[in-house]
Amino acid sequence: MGMKTKIMLGVLCLSALALPAADGAAENEARLTAEVPKVFARAETQFARLIAAMDERGVTTELPRSWTRGVYKTEPPIGWTTGFFPGSLWYLYAYTQKDEWKAAAEAWTARLEPARHYTGNHDMGFMFFCSYGNGIKYGGHGDDYKAVIFDAAAALATRWSEPMGLIRSWDYPKFMQFPVIIDSMMNLEMLEWVAKNGGSRAYDRLARRHADKLDATHFRPDGTAYHVTDWNPKTGKIWARYAWQGACVDGAWARGQAWCVYGYTMMYRETDDARYLARAVKMADWILAAPNLPDDKIPYWDYQAAGIPDAPRDASAAAVMASALLELAKYAGGEKAAAYRARAVEMLLSLASPAYLCAPGECGGFLLKHSVGNLPEDTEIDASINYADYYFLEALLRFIGR
Ligand code: GLY
Repeated sequence: MGMKTKIMLGVLCLSALALPAADGAAENEARLTAEVPKVFARAETQFARLIAAMDERGVTTELPRSWTRGVYKTEPPIGWTTGFFPGSLWYLYAYTQKDEWKAAAEAWTARLEPARHYTGNHDMGFMFFCSYGNGIKYGGHGDDYKAVIFDAAAALATRWSEPMGLIRSWDYPKFMQFPVIIDSMMNLEMLEWVAKNGGSRAYDRLARRHADKLDATHFRPDGTAYHVTDWNPKTGKIWARYAWQGACVDGAWARGQAWCVYGYTMMYRETDDARYLARAVKMADWILAAPNLPDDKIPYWDYQAAGIPDAPRDASAAAVMASALLELAKYAGGEKAAAYRARAVEMLLSLASPAYLCAPGECGGFLLKHSVGNLPEDTEIDASINYADYYFLEALLRFIGR
Protein backbone atom coordinates (compact mmCIF):
# COMPACT_ATOMS: atom_id res chain seq x y z
CA MET A 1 0.00 0.00 0.00
CA GLY A 2 1.49 3.35 -1.04
CA MET A 3 1.89 6.21 1.39
CA LYS A 4 -0.82 8.23 -0.34
CA THR A 5 -3.31 5.33 0.01
CA LYS A 6 -2.41 4.95 3.69
CA ILE A 7 -2.99 8.65 4.30
CA MET A 8 -6.30 8.42 2.44
CA LEU A 9 -7.40 5.48 4.59
CA GLY A 10 -6.34 7.37 7.70
CA VAL A 11 -8.52 10.28 6.68
CA LEU A 12 -11.41 7.93 5.95
CA CYS A 13 -11.04 6.24 9.36
CA LEU A 14 -10.95 9.58 11.13
CA SER A 15 -14.03 10.78 9.33
CA ALA A 16 -15.78 7.48 10.09
CA LEU A 17 -14.98 8.06 13.77
CA ALA A 18 -16.32 11.60 13.71
CA LEU A 19 -19.41 10.73 11.73
CA PRO A 20 -20.67 7.22 12.47
CA ALA A 21 -21.99 5.43 9.43
CA ALA A 22 -25.74 5.60 9.08
CA ASP A 23 -26.19 1.83 8.69
CA GLY A 24 -29.81 0.90 8.27
CA ALA A 25 -30.85 4.53 8.00
CA ALA A 26 -33.59 3.88 5.46
CA GLU A 27 -35.06 1.03 7.53
CA ASN A 28 -34.95 3.20 10.64
CA GLU A 29 -36.76 6.03 8.83
CA ALA A 30 -39.50 3.58 7.83
CA ARG A 31 -39.75 2.19 11.36
CA LEU A 32 -40.02 5.67 12.86
CA THR A 33 -42.64 6.71 10.29
CA ALA A 34 -44.75 3.79 11.54
CA GLU A 35 -44.23 4.81 15.19
CA VAL A 36 -45.30 8.45 14.81
CA PRO A 37 -49.11 7.89 14.82
CA LYS A 38 -48.75 5.48 17.75
CA VAL A 39 -46.80 8.02 19.81
CA PHE A 40 -49.32 10.79 19.16
CA ALA A 41 -52.16 8.39 20.05
CA ARG A 42 -50.32 7.61 23.29
CA ALA A 43 -49.88 11.33 23.94
CA GLU A 44 -53.65 11.77 23.63
CA THR A 45 -54.29 9.06 26.24
CA GLN A 46 -51.57 10.31 28.56
CA PHE A 47 -52.32 14.02 28.44
CA ALA A 48 -56.04 13.39 29.03
CA ARG A 49 -54.99 11.51 32.16
CA LEU A 50 -52.59 14.26 33.23
CA ILE A 51 -55.28 16.92 32.85
CA ALA A 52 -57.69 14.76 34.87
CA ALA A 53 -55.04 14.30 37.56
CA MET A 54 -54.55 18.07 37.78
CA ASP A 55 -58.33 18.54 38.08
CA GLU A 56 -58.58 15.87 40.78
CA ARG A 57 -55.85 17.64 42.77
CA GLY A 58 -57.50 21.04 42.43
CA VAL A 59 -54.59 22.51 40.45
CA THR A 60 -56.28 25.54 38.94
CA THR A 61 -53.49 28.08 38.41
CA GLU A 62 -50.27 26.04 38.29
CA LEU A 63 -48.97 23.82 35.48
CA PRO A 64 -47.70 20.23 35.55
CA ARG A 65 -43.93 19.94 35.55
CA SER A 66 -42.92 16.40 36.43
CA TRP A 67 -43.79 13.07 38.01
CA THR A 68 -41.19 11.19 40.05
CA ARG A 69 -42.12 7.81 41.53
CA GLY A 70 -45.75 8.79 42.03
CA VAL A 71 -45.19 12.39 43.11
CA TYR A 72 -46.35 15.29 40.93
CA LYS A 73 -44.50 18.57 40.82
CA THR A 74 -46.42 21.60 39.55
CA GLU A 75 -45.22 25.17 39.01
CA PRO A 76 -46.81 28.61 39.25
CA PRO A 77 -46.82 30.62 36.00
CA ILE A 78 -43.39 32.15 36.71
CA GLY A 79 -41.70 28.72 36.77
CA TRP A 80 -39.23 28.03 33.98
CA THR A 81 -40.97 24.89 32.68
CA THR A 82 -44.51 26.28 32.44
CA GLY A 83 -44.51 26.69 28.65
CA PHE A 84 -43.83 23.04 27.91
CA PHE A 85 -47.16 21.40 28.75
CA PRO A 86 -49.18 23.99 26.81
CA GLY A 87 -46.62 23.63 24.02
CA SER A 88 -47.04 19.86 23.99
CA LEU A 89 -50.78 20.37 23.68
CA TRP A 90 -50.20 22.66 20.69
CA TYR A 91 -48.07 19.93 19.11
CA LEU A 92 -50.83 17.42 19.79
CA TYR A 93 -53.28 19.75 18.08
CA ALA A 94 -50.86 20.29 15.18
CA TYR A 95 -50.82 16.55 14.58
CA THR A 96 -54.43 15.55 15.33
CA GLN A 97 -56.25 18.74 14.26
CA LYS A 98 -58.84 17.90 16.93
CA ASP A 99 -60.80 20.84 18.37
CA GLU A 100 -60.60 19.37 21.88
CA TRP A 101 -56.81 19.63 21.87
CA LYS A 102 -56.91 23.17 20.56
CA ALA A 103 -59.26 24.11 23.40
CA ALA A 104 -56.98 22.40 25.91
CA ALA A 105 -53.90 24.13 24.48
CA GLU A 106 -55.62 27.51 24.70
CA ALA A 107 -56.77 26.92 28.27
CA TRP A 108 -53.33 25.80 29.52
CA THR A 109 -51.55 28.54 27.57
CA ALA A 110 -53.76 31.13 29.27
CA ARG A 111 -52.38 30.04 32.65
CA LEU A 112 -49.07 31.73 31.81
CA GLU A 113 -50.62 35.12 31.16
CA PRO A 114 -50.08 36.47 34.72
CA ALA A 115 -46.30 36.00 34.21
CA ARG A 116 -46.06 38.03 30.97
CA HIS A 117 -44.18 40.88 32.68
CA TYR A 118 -42.00 38.69 34.92
CA THR A 119 -38.38 39.87 35.09
CA GLY A 120 -37.06 37.47 37.73
CA ASN A 121 -35.33 35.06 35.36
CA HIS A 122 -34.20 34.66 31.75
CA ASP A 123 -36.53 31.77 30.97
CA MET A 124 -39.25 33.87 29.37
CA GLY A 125 -38.36 32.45 25.95
CA PHE A 126 -38.84 28.86 27.10
CA MET A 127 -42.05 29.86 28.86
CA PHE A 128 -43.77 32.10 26.32
CA PHE A 129 -42.41 30.98 22.97
CA CYS A 130 -43.14 27.28 23.57
CA SER A 131 -46.71 28.14 24.61
CA TYR A 132 -47.96 31.36 22.96
CA GLY A 133 -45.45 31.01 20.11
CA ASN A 134 -46.84 27.64 19.11
CA GLY A 135 -50.36 29.02 19.44
CA ILE A 136 -49.45 31.46 16.66
CA LYS A 137 -47.65 28.84 14.60
CA TYR A 138 -50.26 26.09 14.84
CA GLY A 139 -53.40 27.53 16.44
CA GLY A 140 -54.27 30.45 14.17
CA HIS A 141 -53.74 33.03 16.90
CA GLY A 142 -52.55 36.50 15.98
CA ASP A 143 -52.43 39.83 17.77
CA ASP A 144 -53.92 38.39 20.97
CA TYR A 145 -50.93 36.08 21.52
CA LYS A 146 -48.45 38.44 19.89
CA ALA A 147 -49.13 41.10 22.52
CA VAL A 148 -48.27 38.64 25.27
CA ILE A 149 -45.06 37.56 23.52
CA PHE A 150 -44.03 41.21 23.05
CA ASP A 151 -44.48 41.80 26.79
CA ALA A 152 -42.51 38.66 27.64
CA ALA A 153 -39.68 39.74 25.32
CA ALA A 154 -39.63 43.22 26.89
CA ALA A 155 -39.38 41.59 30.32
CA LEU A 156 -36.52 39.38 29.14
CA ALA A 157 -34.72 42.38 27.65
CA THR A 158 -34.64 44.07 31.09
CA ARG A 159 -32.02 41.46 31.99
CA TRP A 160 -29.68 42.67 29.22
CA SER A 161 -26.50 44.42 30.34
CA GLU A 162 -24.99 46.65 27.67
CA PRO A 163 -21.53 46.79 29.27
CA MET A 164 -21.47 43.00 29.68
CA GLY A 165 -23.03 42.28 26.29
CA LEU A 166 -25.03 39.50 27.93
CA ILE A 167 -28.47 38.63 29.28
CA ARG A 168 -28.13 37.71 32.93
CA SER A 169 -29.55 34.22 33.45
CA TRP A 170 -30.24 34.09 37.18
CA ASP A 171 -30.48 36.40 40.21
CA TYR A 172 -29.47 33.52 42.48
CA PRO A 173 -27.65 32.01 44.23
CA LYS A 174 -26.23 34.82 46.33
CA PHE A 175 -22.61 33.84 45.73
CA MET A 176 -22.90 34.32 41.96
CA GLN A 177 -22.45 37.82 40.53
CA PHE A 178 -23.66 37.71 36.91
CA PRO A 179 -24.32 34.08 36.00
CA VAL A 180 -24.86 33.05 32.40
CA ILE A 181 -25.84 29.48 31.52
CA ILE A 182 -25.69 27.58 28.25
CA ASP A 183 -29.49 27.09 28.42
CA SER A 184 -29.78 30.86 27.79
CA MET A 185 -29.32 30.22 24.07
CA MET A 186 -32.84 28.83 24.01
CA ASN A 187 -34.42 32.14 25.05
CA LEU A 188 -33.01 34.02 22.07
CA GLU A 189 -35.54 32.58 19.59
CA MET A 190 -38.35 34.69 21.05
CA LEU A 191 -36.21 37.84 20.75
CA GLU A 192 -35.46 37.06 17.10
CA TRP A 193 -39.12 36.42 16.39
CA VAL A 194 -40.25 39.69 17.97
CA ALA A 195 -37.56 41.63 16.07
CA LYS A 196 -38.85 40.18 12.78
CA ASN A 197 -42.55 40.51 13.55
CA GLY A 198 -43.08 44.16 14.26
CA GLY A 199 -41.38 44.49 17.64
CA SER A 200 -38.13 46.12 18.61
CA ARG A 201 -35.39 45.49 16.02
CA ALA A 202 -32.92 45.99 18.87
CA TYR A 203 -33.72 42.48 20.12
CA ASP A 204 -31.89 41.01 17.15
CA ARG A 205 -28.71 42.82 18.22
CA LEU A 206 -29.14 41.63 21.83
CA ALA A 207 -29.59 38.04 20.72
CA ARG A 208 -26.58 38.12 18.39
CA ARG A 209 -24.30 39.77 20.93
CA HIS A 210 -25.31 37.29 23.62
CA ALA A 211 -24.72 34.36 21.25
CA ASP A 212 -21.39 35.86 20.11
CA LYS A 213 -20.14 36.31 23.64
CA LEU A 214 -21.04 32.78 24.63
CA ASP A 215 -19.44 31.51 21.44
CA ALA A 216 -16.21 33.21 22.52
CA THR A 217 -16.26 32.33 26.23
CA HIS A 218 -18.53 29.43 27.13
CA PHE A 219 -16.78 26.49 25.49
CA ARG A 220 -13.81 24.26 26.05
CA PRO A 221 -11.35 23.59 23.23
CA ASP A 222 -13.05 20.25 22.49
CA GLY A 223 -16.33 22.10 21.84
CA THR A 224 -18.20 21.09 24.99
CA ALA A 225 -20.07 23.72 26.96
CA TYR A 226 -19.78 24.75 30.58
CA HIS A 227 -23.07 24.97 32.36
CA VAL A 228 -22.51 28.20 34.30
CA THR A 229 -20.07 31.01 33.62
CA ASP A 230 -20.10 33.69 36.29
CA TRP A 231 -18.99 37.20 35.32
CA ASN A 232 -17.71 40.01 37.51
CA PRO A 233 -19.59 43.11 36.34
CA LYS A 234 -16.94 45.41 37.87
CA THR A 235 -14.08 43.98 35.81
CA GLY A 236 -16.13 42.59 32.92
CA LYS A 237 -14.22 39.33 33.32
CA ILE A 238 -15.16 35.75 34.13
CA TRP A 239 -14.41 35.05 37.77
CA ALA A 240 -15.83 31.52 38.17
CA ARG A 241 -17.31 28.57 36.37
CA TYR A 242 -19.68 26.03 37.92
CA ALA A 243 -20.74 22.50 37.10
CA TRP A 244 -24.17 23.26 38.66
CA GLN A 245 -26.51 20.69 37.05
CA GLY A 246 -23.52 18.80 35.65
CA ALA A 247 -21.21 16.25 37.25
CA CYS A 248 -18.04 18.35 37.36
CA VAL A 249 -16.95 21.77 36.20
CA ASP A 250 -14.96 20.37 33.30
CA GLY A 251 -17.55 17.75 32.40
CA ALA A 252 -20.27 17.72 29.76
CA TRP A 253 -23.75 17.89 31.25
CA ALA A 254 -25.90 16.10 28.68
CA ARG A 255 -28.84 18.49 28.45
CA GLY A 256 -26.53 21.51 28.38
CA GLN A 257 -24.76 20.17 25.31
CA ALA A 258 -28.15 19.64 23.66
CA TRP A 259 -29.24 23.22 24.47
CA CYS A 260 -26.08 24.36 22.71
CA VAL A 261 -26.77 22.49 19.48
CA TYR A 262 -30.41 23.55 19.47
CA GLY A 263 -29.67 27.19 20.32
CA TYR A 264 -26.88 27.76 17.82
CA THR A 265 -28.76 25.93 15.05
CA MET A 266 -31.73 28.20 15.71
CA MET A 267 -29.49 31.30 15.66
CA TYR A 268 -28.04 30.20 12.31
CA ARG A 269 -31.59 29.84 10.94
CA GLU A 270 -32.48 33.32 12.20
CA THR A 271 -29.31 35.17 11.15
CA ASP A 272 -27.45 33.21 8.44
CA ASP A 273 -24.27 33.78 10.46
CA ALA A 274 -21.98 30.87 9.60
CA ARG A 275 -20.20 31.12 12.97
CA TYR A 276 -23.36 29.87 14.66
CA LEU A 277 -23.59 26.94 12.29
CA ALA A 278 -19.95 26.11 12.99
CA ARG A 279 -20.58 26.14 16.75
CA ALA A 280 -23.60 23.83 16.42
CA VAL A 281 -21.69 21.46 14.13
CA LYS A 282 -18.70 21.31 16.47
CA MET A 283 -20.93 20.40 19.40
CA ALA A 284 -22.99 17.92 17.37
CA ASP A 285 -19.87 16.16 16.12
CA TRP A 286 -18.61 15.83 19.67
CA ILE A 287 -21.94 14.31 20.74
CA LEU A 288 -22.04 11.85 17.84
CA ALA A 289 -18.66 10.47 18.92
CA ALA A 290 -19.16 11.12 22.64
CA PRO A 291 -17.62 8.86 25.26
CA ASN A 292 -19.90 6.64 27.32
CA LEU A 293 -22.82 6.72 24.92
CA PRO A 294 -25.05 3.64 25.39
CA ASP A 295 -26.07 1.56 22.38
CA ASP A 296 -29.59 3.00 22.38
CA LYS A 297 -28.05 6.51 22.05
CA ILE A 298 -29.90 7.91 25.07
CA PRO A 299 -27.14 9.60 27.07
CA TYR A 300 -26.40 9.34 30.74
CA TRP A 301 -27.37 12.57 32.51
CA ASP A 302 -23.74 13.69 32.16
CA TYR A 303 -21.21 12.22 29.75
CA GLN A 304 -18.78 11.96 32.70
CA ALA A 305 -21.33 10.81 35.27
CA ALA A 306 -20.11 8.71 38.16
CA GLY A 307 -21.30 5.12 38.18
CA ILE A 308 -21.60 4.52 34.44
CA PRO A 309 -23.09 2.13 33.24
CA ASP A 310 -25.53 2.31 36.17
CA ALA A 311 -25.87 6.12 36.13
CA PRO A 312 -29.34 7.48 35.27
CA ARG A 313 -30.10 8.27 31.66
CA ASP A 314 -31.60 11.56 30.52
CA ALA A 315 -34.36 11.08 27.96
CA SER A 316 -34.92 14.86 27.95
CA ALA A 317 -31.38 15.48 26.68
CA ALA A 318 -32.00 12.96 23.91
CA ALA A 319 -35.32 14.58 22.95
CA VAL A 320 -33.77 18.09 22.74
CA MET A 321 -30.82 16.69 20.84
CA ALA A 322 -32.95 14.76 18.35
CA SER A 323 -35.04 17.82 17.58
CA ALA A 324 -31.90 19.96 17.17
CA LEU A 325 -30.14 17.42 14.94
CA LEU A 326 -33.13 17.17 12.62
CA GLU A 327 -32.94 20.91 12.02
CA LEU A 328 -29.13 20.99 11.85
CA ALA A 329 -29.22 18.25 9.21
CA LYS A 330 -31.06 20.67 6.91
CA TYR A 331 -28.20 23.19 7.06
CA ALA A 332 -25.11 21.00 7.45
CA GLY A 333 -25.18 19.34 4.05
CA GLY A 334 -23.63 16.16 2.66
CA GLU A 335 -22.27 13.44 4.88
CA LYS A 336 -22.91 15.41 8.08
CA ALA A 337 -26.57 15.94 7.20
CA ALA A 338 -27.07 12.21 6.76
CA ALA A 339 -25.23 11.39 9.99
CA TYR A 340 -27.18 13.95 12.06
CA ARG A 341 -30.55 12.81 10.73
CA ALA A 342 -29.70 9.15 11.17
CA ARG A 343 -28.67 9.76 14.79
CA ALA A 344 -31.84 11.74 15.49
CA VAL A 345 -33.94 8.91 14.08
CA GLU A 346 -32.08 6.34 16.20
CA MET A 347 -32.72 8.40 19.33
CA LEU A 348 -36.38 8.87 18.49
CA LEU A 349 -36.83 5.14 17.89
CA SER A 350 -35.39 4.47 21.33
CA LEU A 351 -37.65 7.08 22.93
CA ALA A 352 -40.68 5.60 21.13
CA SER A 353 -39.89 2.13 22.47
CA PRO A 354 -41.40 0.70 25.69
CA ALA A 355 -38.05 1.33 27.40
CA TYR A 356 -38.80 5.10 27.43
CA LEU A 357 -42.40 5.61 26.28
CA CYS A 358 -44.83 5.43 29.19
CA ALA A 359 -47.46 2.71 28.93
CA PRO A 360 -51.09 3.89 29.02
CA GLY A 361 -51.81 5.16 32.53
CA GLU A 362 -48.15 5.04 33.58
CA CYS A 363 -46.05 8.07 34.64
CA GLY A 364 -49.06 10.03 35.93
CA GLY A 365 -49.98 11.01 32.38
CA PHE A 366 -46.60 12.22 31.12
CA LEU A 367 -45.32 10.67 27.91
CA LEU A 368 -41.67 9.75 28.51
CA LYS A 369 -39.83 8.23 31.44
CA HIS A 370 -36.18 8.25 32.50
CA SER A 371 -35.27 11.93 32.52
CA VAL A 372 -33.07 13.75 35.01
CA GLY A 373 -33.87 17.26 36.21
CA ASN A 374 -31.06 18.15 38.59
CA LEU A 375 -29.03 15.26 39.93
CA PRO A 376 -26.59 17.29 42.07
CA GLU A 377 -29.62 18.79 43.83
CA ASP A 378 -31.19 15.32 44.09
CA THR A 379 -34.40 16.40 42.33
CA GLU A 380 -36.34 14.77 39.50
CA ILE A 381 -34.04 11.77 39.03
CA ASP A 382 -35.36 9.05 36.73
CA ALA A 383 -38.47 11.18 36.31
CA SER A 384 -41.07 12.06 33.71
CA ILE A 385 -40.57 15.75 32.90
CA ASN A 386 -42.61 18.06 30.68
CA TYR A 387 -39.70 19.30 28.55
CA ALA A 388 -38.78 15.76 27.53
CA ASP A 389 -42.33 15.29 26.22
CA TYR A 390 -42.30 18.68 24.50
CA TYR A 391 -39.07 18.22 22.54
CA PHE A 392 -39.94 14.59 21.73
CA LEU A 393 -43.22 15.64 20.08
CA GLU A 394 -41.49 18.57 18.40
CA ALA A 395 -38.85 16.25 16.98
CA LEU A 396 -41.51 13.90 15.61
CA LEU A 397 -43.29 16.81 13.94
CA ARG A 398 -39.97 17.91 12.44
CA PHE A 399 -39.37 14.34 11.29
CA ILE A 400 -42.66 14.30 9.36
CA GLY A 401 -42.06 17.83 8.08
CA ARG A 402 -44.76 19.75 9.96
N1 GLY B 1 -32.83 25.08 31.96
C1 GLY B 1 -32.64 24.23 33.05
C2 GLY B 1 -32.50 22.81 32.69
O1 GLY B 1 -32.26 22.46 31.57
O2 GLY B 1 -32.65 22.01 33.60
